[in-house]
Amino acid sequence: MSWTLKQAPTQSGRIAVVTGANIGLGYETALALAGKGCTVVLACRNAGKAEAAQAAILAQHPKARVESMALDLGSLRSVRAFASAYKKRHATLDLLINNAGIMMPPFSLSEDGFESQLAANYLGHFALTGLLLPLIVKTPESRIVSLSSLAHKWSGIRFDDLHFTRRYDKRLAYGQSKLACLMFAYELQRRLTQAGSRTLSVAAHPGVSSTNLFQHLPKVVQLFAPLTELIFQSASGGAQPTLYAALGDDIQGGDYCGPQAMGEMRGAPGKVGSSRRSRDEAVAAKLWGVSEELTGVRFLD
Ligand SMILES: NC(=O)c1ccc[n+]([C@@H]2O[C@H](COP(=O)([O-])OP(=O)(O)OC[C@H]3O[C@@H](n4cnc5c(N)ncnc54)[C@H](OP(=O)(O)O)[C@@H]3O)[C@@H](O)[C@H]2O)c1
Repeated sequence: MSWTLKQAPTQSGRIAVVTGANIGLGYETALALAGKGCTVVLACRNAGKAEAAQAAILAQHPKARVESMALDLGSLRSVRAFASAYKKRHATLDLLINNAGIMMPPFSLSEDGFESQLAANYLGHFALTGLLLPLIVKTPESRIVSLSSLAHKWSGIRFDDLHFTRRYDKRLAYGQSKLACLMFAYELQRRLTQAGSRTLSVAAHPGVSSTNLFQHLPKVVQLFAPLTELIFQSASGGAQPTLYAALGDDIQGGDYCGPQAMGEMRGAPGKVGSSRRSRDEAVAAKLWGVSEELTGVRFLD
């Protein structure tokens, strides 16, 4: 039988940070966690949108404990400010849900000089996780969930032009960023195990879900967006693999969770496989070193 949220125990007394929690999968994840009694921190780049999401969650769960805090993953300055503000407010962190993301925007570089998808989807989360890790590893039963995608199969890691400054291909850049998120989840688990930590690093993907993620696709494609929900997943359905990764009692470090029907595009959550490229430990170690250099964040020192 497939996992459902009903099987998860109460999360009362626990705390979760969900990035990009104002809408889409992040919002649905935060809503479900709050409904389970978890204190939820909505880590969002737009204060107005975060407050609206907070109000919407409280309208459904009036006793929920929901906070919102500013976080722009496209800016290392903002990531550092968030981590330091969080550590001032909270002494523990049970669940870090690295959810926020953008897909196929026009080319731009972040203020740190990173290609925008690599910045927001991957390097921002890499830095965030590293900065919060001291708190996470001392919290019993803690987990870090990183969002990848079926698109991790679209590209390799292009070490010779990581930021696509020679010729931008927004599809390849998205694929690279999502492959990086998946390789990060696996490599983090290897490093946690080596350090003797019981914290779990797990990856998840939502299949294809009806959200704002498709806003940069051509208008004609967007006309078919309402069909996404009918044929594939609602945002709530797409959040189930993330919730399974965060709360499932049979989850092990290094697992990858996704929907189980229609080529993983929809369906109930379960454990899924990933590309051979995503399992390349030499590339993962190299990517880790490059990411530490680019962000200036070092893990488990
Ligand atoms: N939907 C799918 O079919 C699908 C498939 C595979 C993987 N995914 C992954 O699922 C995750 C969630 O996507 P979604 O479908 O829920 O998309 P969405 O509805 O567009 O939500 C994305 C969230 O990320 C936030 N965000 C974007 N850039 C950010 C930044 N620089 N700093 C902080 N927050 C930022 C957005 O904030 P704003 O509202 O302020 O823009 C929004 O809250 C992404 O990692 C995506 O790659 C989605």
